[in-house]
Amino acid sequence: MPGNTATTATTVPGRMHNPDDLPQPASAAAALSEALGGQIVREIEAAGGAIPFSRYMELCLYAPGLGYYSAGQRKFGTGGDFVTAPEVSALFGRCLARGCAAVLQQTGGDVLEFGAGSGRLAVDLLGELDVLGCLPRQYYILERSADLQQRQQQLLRRELPRLIERVVWLDRLPPAGFRGVMLANEVLDAMAVERFHWKGAAAAQYFVAQGMAGFEWREQPVESPPLQAAIDRLVAACQLPAGYVSEINLSLGPWISSIAGRLGEGMLLLVDYGYARDEYYHPQRSSGTLMCHYRQRAHADPFLWPGLQDITAHVDFTAVAEAASAAGLTVSGYTSQAWFLLDSGLEGLLQAAGPTDSVAYLQLAQQAKTLMLPGEMGERFKCIALTRGIEPPLPGFRMQDFRCRL
Ligand SMILES: C[S@@+](CC[C@H](N)C(=O)[O-])C[C@H]1O[C@@H](n2cnc3c(N)ncnc32)[C@H](O)[C@@H]1O
Repeated sequence: MPGNTATTATTVPGRMHNPDDLPQPASAAAALSEALGGQIVREIEAAGGAIPFSRYMELCLYAPGLGYYSAGQRKFGTGGDFVTAPEVSALFGRCLARGCAAVLQQTGGDVLEFGAGSGRLAVDLLGELDVLGCLPRQYYILERSADLQQRQQQLLRRELPRLIERVVWLDRLPPAGFRGVMLANEVLDAMAVERFHWKGAAAAQYFVAQGMAGFEWREQPVESPPLQAAIDRLVAACQLPAGYVSEINLSLGPWISSIAGRLGEGMLLLVDYGYARDEYYHPQRSSGTLMCHYRQRAHADPFLWPGLQDITAHVDFTAVAEAASAAGLTVSGYTSQAWFLLDSGLEGLLQAAGPTDSVAYLQLAQQAKTLMLPGEMGERFKCIALTRGIEPPLPGFRMQDFRCRL
């Protein structure tokens, strides 16, 4: 059962594993990793001995044909490396559908999902919008992994054949004037980040070099002016202690700004694990949030088997809100996943499932716990609604409003 946390790990597990205890990859997978490692070594040599960590992470996740999301291994669900909310339960997509329906009733138009993973959320969300009598004109998917695009097409053809004509895969953002809902679940955490070390008077940037036993960290003076500016702002706002190590996602602002430029009327809904800035860059979180997932185990070594494991960082939701406001969007809601799902009708969906089929009901109740409990996905995952021209209130954001934390 996907939601059974005795056998699966969501992307925010409670326990970090020792990399030495992880299972070995099969030989075909190890060969892929070696090929990617070779490509990274060549790039390091061409760069004079080291590349920024963000470039290393980008190659590990997205190098064509070899990166974690670009190559053909199973990533999501019980047979993969981690479990996302849509893989835990259809309840997630069905609840999201209620917020989407409220916006689509105002705007008409389309839905655009970024980074659709296995396609599971698209199946559940579009299916529920049909039940609610609120189908979008088109359900667009913008997915940067060609391999995942293929898997999404297969899943949607198999599980939602009646609506497949509405689903369109895009290879770039739609033109300006988009009306409807744009959404992304766990996409921001899959963007390459920079890593820095605050030393008390100045900062160093982490690079990746090749050492005797594989890739290794190298600290160098900060090379990128945008990174230096971002660190300066953080130091001023958060009083980081000397020795503090963390990450900054420099792609986040440009990504939100480019999407905001296309959103004529509607909502951009982002769901991910993360914190408001003062919690993210809290003095006690002094080694950052960088995390790797390999076969349902979380650990902290990004140099292990490049291309075979996921590498992620939490999301600074204050940065999301700032980028959205700078791009002319309204931050219409910010809350935890638990409150979002409760306010989107999760209880009603559960009740509707029982008590006639008690096995199905118990399974669903277990899945709901994984989505909702504070120690699972309920608290660390946040939902933020960024809108243009939409009348509040939005389902999902009426019960608890955490915008004052941003
Ligand atoms: C952690 S997975 C989440 C998948 C899915 N949303 C889910 O919740 O199961 C991250 C997904 O985002 C995609 N991705 C990352 N950056 C992207 C971008 N800039 N545009 C579109 N997709 C992106 C990846 O290829 C992958 O499908």
